[in-house]
Amino acid sequence: MMPSAKPPKHLKMRAPHVPVPEPARDLGPPKIEIRSLNFYYGELQSLRNINMSLADHSISAFIGPSGCGKSTLLRVLNRMYGLYPNQRAEGEVLIGGRDILGSAVDVAELRYRVGMVFQKPTPFPMSVFDNVAFGLRLGGGIRGAELKSRVESALRDAAIWDEVKDKLHADGRSLSGGQQQRVCIARAIAVKPEVLLLDEPTAALDPISTLRVEETLQALREKYCIVVVTHNLQQAARVSNVTGFMFMGELVEIGPSSQIFTSPKDRRTDDYITGRFG
Ligand SMILES: Nc1ncnc2c1ncn2[C@@H]1O[C@H](COP(=O)(O)OP(=O)(O)OP(=O)(O)O)[C@@H](O)[C@H]1O
Ligand SMILES: [Mg+2]
Repeated sequence: MMPSAKPPKHLKMRAPHVPVPEPARDLGPPKIEIRSLNFYYGELQSLRNINMSLADHSISAFIGPSGCGKSTLLRVLNRMYGLYPNQRAEGEVLIGGRDILGSAVDVAELRYRVGMVFQKPTPFPMSVFDNVAFGLRLGGGIRGAELKSRVESALRDAAIWDEVKDKLHADGRSLSGGQQQRVCIARAIAVKPEVLLLDEPTAALDPISTLRVEETLQALREKYCIVVVTHNLQQAARVSNVTGFMFMGELVEIGPSSQIFTSPKDRRTDDYITGRFG
């Protein structure tokens, strides 16, 4: 889906190329609920009393200046910080109604429920097929015809099937950056996660590949709860239903993207989206 034309007047004044944001839909029950979340790297507190609910079947974007805590927020949602001894989260994070911060949580299972895509495409050193089949073989013991069909449908959902169907056995690293990123998205969704996290997924891509990845996200919106961090404000406006602005570890405000980009409530959000700082 191409972004539609004509920005509203006030938005046009701010950033001429920002298209009309998706209207907020009736977003249904929350998939992710975060209450009183604080996060620490040793002594340094990098998330401060975060409270929010993120809906299923929608795209939530997080924006904010470098170092404000966007990646840290994603690292909490899949417990990646747990790999490091001096990093800790306090508060409550529920995904699908289940606590993910507790010590009883099966972190390996959580990573199947919560997929992650990084800024730099990270294909494994193996074929396109094996990249996408990786989690299915490892966690699901899926083989044979079922495996083939799951790989194909993940590649189709990630809008990359037509480009790779004749080179499924080529090394994943031989694809273009934009293709690699969509294979990584296919790999993440192949195991049918509940939530898909993407940390600046197009920052390393050219404009055409960026558009392809954005189209992929639009197509996936119906099936997943997608959380994307981006420095590209036009991108947040184009793809997301909801946008949250973070600043110095705080969630300053979150709301329908159309509202955040046209009439933010907080002065700091306004300053950021109009380019006065950040
Ligand atoms: N491994 C770490 N150890 C110590 N401090 C860290 C670590 N990772 C991040 N921080 C600090 O936590 C804060 C938030 O960092 P984070 O990476 O979440 O920011 P960000 O919003 O993703 O920034 P960027 O837009 O540059 O990616 C920063 O002050 C950063 O220096
Ligand atoms: Mg970051």
